[in-house]
Amino acid sequence: MSDTPTVRIDELAAHVEQDVRLQGWLYNIRSSKKLHFMQLRDGTGIVQVVVSKADVGDEIFELVSGMGQESSLRVIGNVKADERAQGGHELLASDVQLIQNTHDYPITPKEHGVAFLLEHRHLWLRSKRQHAVLRIRSQVEQAAHAFFESRGFLRFDAPILTPAECEGSSTLFETDYFDEKAYLTQSGQLYAEAGAQAFGRVYTFGPTFRAEKSKTRRHLMEFWMIEPEAAFFDLDDDIELAEGFICALLARVLETCRPELEVLERDTAALEAVTQPFPRLSYSEALERLRAQNMNIEFGEDFGADEETVLAKEFDRPLVVHRYPASLKPFYMKRDPDDPSVVLNMDVLAPEGYGEIIGGSVREEVLETLDAQIAEKQMDPEPLGWYRDLRRYGSVPHAGFGLGLERTLTWICGLHHLRETIPFPRLMGRLYP
Ligand code: 4AD
Ligand code: MG
Repeated sequence: MSDTPTVRIDELAAHVEQDVRLQGWLYNIRSSKKLHFMQLRDGTGIVQVVVSKADVGDEIFELVSGMGQESSLRVIGNVKADERAQGGHELLASDVQLIQNTHDYPITPKEHGVAFLLEHRHLWLRSKRQHAVLRIRSQVEQAAHAFFESRGFLRFDAPILTPAECEGSSTLFETDYFDEKAYLTQSGQLYAEAGAQAFGRVYTFGPTFRAEKSKTRRHLMEFWMIEPEAAFFDLDDDIELAEGFICALLARVLETCRPELEVLERDTAALEAVTQPFPRLSYSEALERLRAQNMNIEFGEDFGADEETVLAKEFDRPLVVHRYPASLKPFYMKRDPDDPSVVLNMDVLAPEGYGEIIGGSVREEVLETLDAQIAEKQMDPEPLGWYRDLRRYGSVPHAGFGLGLERTLTWICGLHHLRETIPFPRLMGRLYP
């Protein structure tokens, strides 16, 4: 039997009527006197393994009888095509080798509360729903790289430890850097801007950090952001890039993740409806729409989750809201020359009430204006010396945006809370596991 090929469950179709070796974990088991029906999972799928006493003998049959949920094992058996079986195949076992017998696995097929599951996140990852979400995450990440590659963007990694804030001082994680103050990055953007002047078009893709002192279903302390930055882009170019990007992510998921979307019971029609161009509203137009629905927001107030939900609900695809009041936005955004009370920015709000998934803008490229905005926001210009330099040496109009990976996945997967879209969520009050 030593020449029996070792395969993974998603490769079984190529081995019908052959003997193969599978290795994995016991997901579930049903038994009668002479038969065990094991559900074996190996990360690529789940397959039923039929263990017949007549085929394997008493000793192995007994061994299997004593195996608990999530025991690790190897099985040798013959692959049978069976339309009724999950995945279309089952295995008729001739040998079973136990690697580790497991008892008292904490996550049983019964329902558990979220707090319990988060406490056991290292094990919860093995569940079907979590598998579906994280497979979709992996596909979205791959699709992001493919999209920016196809648009001529260079992947450009920004540092995690930084000397300056990017998105406001209230959400900084501070740390000691050999007697200097350092912050965990809030965004790779400022570095991507240096990259754009070096390479024309770049994107960063990495973890970013916000000490968000609120427990909501759309805030993580640590989340992943994809941030393109392009020299010579204006606001329309930026919006068009964002639209193309979102459509490319959805196309990939709809093409490769149908089974996962089904596990999540996601209404895929809502995702299929998303095509370019997206509707656009200025902040002021958005205010009018909100007022018409008795949500009284004054010019200069930010939209919260409720306002975003109301605005986005009117459309069947993501909504672009542009030109927010300058007072609400960070120091680097360029003012609209036609109305300096607003900036040339855009947020993309996902439909179905999922809220903001992208924030982006044109950047101020004139040093004197940038300096005035830094002063206005009462920021220390010193740690931004290198960034201000970019405006001295070949400054050009440029723009970019950041897409929050977990918020985007929450929408694509149709989840209530973003905590399941990242393997180990960092939430307020949760640093474990
Ligand atoms: O709107 P934000 O703060 O924009 C920036 O950081 C810019 N520097 C991006 C750029 O122009 N390069 O964040 C961008 C996106 C948000 O739209 C949201 O999707 C996500 O990042 N995000 C969060 N996701 C999860 N938890 C949080 N605490 C988040 N904060 C922002
Ligand atoms: Mg934002």
